[in-house]
Amino acid sequence: MTQSDLKNDGLHVAIIMDGNGRWAQARGKPRTAGHLAGATAVRRVIESAPAFGIRTLTLYAFSSDNWKRPRPEVSALMRLLERYLRTETASCVEQGVCLRVIGRRDRLPERVQRAIADAEQTTAAGTTLQLRLAIDYSSRDELVRAAAHAPQSRDEFAQWLAQHTVQADVDLVIRTGGEQRLSDFLLWESAYAELYFTPIAWPDFDRRALAEAIAEFSRRQRRFGAVLDTTAVAS
Ligand code: FPP
Repeated sequence: MTQSDLKNDGLHVAIIMDGNGRWAQARGKPRTAGHLAGATAVRRVIESAPAFGIRTLTLYAFSSDNWKRPRPEVSALMRLLERYLRTETASCVEQGVCLRVIGRRDRLPERVQRAIADAEQTTAAGTTLQLRLAIDYSSRDELVRAAAHAPQSRDEFAQWLAQHTVQADVDLVIRTGGEQRLSDFLLWESAYAELYFTPIAWPDFDRRALAEAIAEFSRRQRRFGAVLDTTAVAS
């Protein structure tokens, strides 16, 4: 582990895993082949994350707007998520990964709901990496739900979100696939996050690409709205 890794200990990194479809189409394959390759990238990144000081990793696996995709693609994604949850649990336990799902569950196929519940239960004791999979997730919907609890202060609002969505402030948002937007992902939690966009399609994202993102993050100066060098302030 390098010094910059140590400096970053305890990071919350959130990733918008974009570019699966284009990756597949560029290879003359169906879009679903891109999602399949994307699942392999998910595995790689989970394995690499702790060495970069990442303690929480939130991955955008299926947005609430993704229901608008063609039915066969949605079904393929649901099957892939279920299979991933079923097959990866053992290696999550081995690696100390605690897996939790954020987002709505009531619209997911029952098989996926059961796979989520089983994976969460089996990995609950993991302490090396808090892995959050965002499935049927919409940040705006979550904020509306939080607001419905009539919070009296910003702290109360944040507390509700933390309790009900297992979230914490995000340090770094990575979006692959070349687009530069947040797509309704962790809008509250990313208020002071650094944003990193890469043209690399998600299926090609690997340890090296993650290292580059973390290195760029380390070079950023985070001020959270404050001024760091008070001696430079004019009187
Ligand atoms: C966006 O790429 C990606 C998705 C909507 C699905 C993300 C799913 C995975 C990475 C695989 C499964 C996840 C897990 C956790 C096993 P896109 O299809 O919009 O790509 P495009 O912009 O090139 O069309």
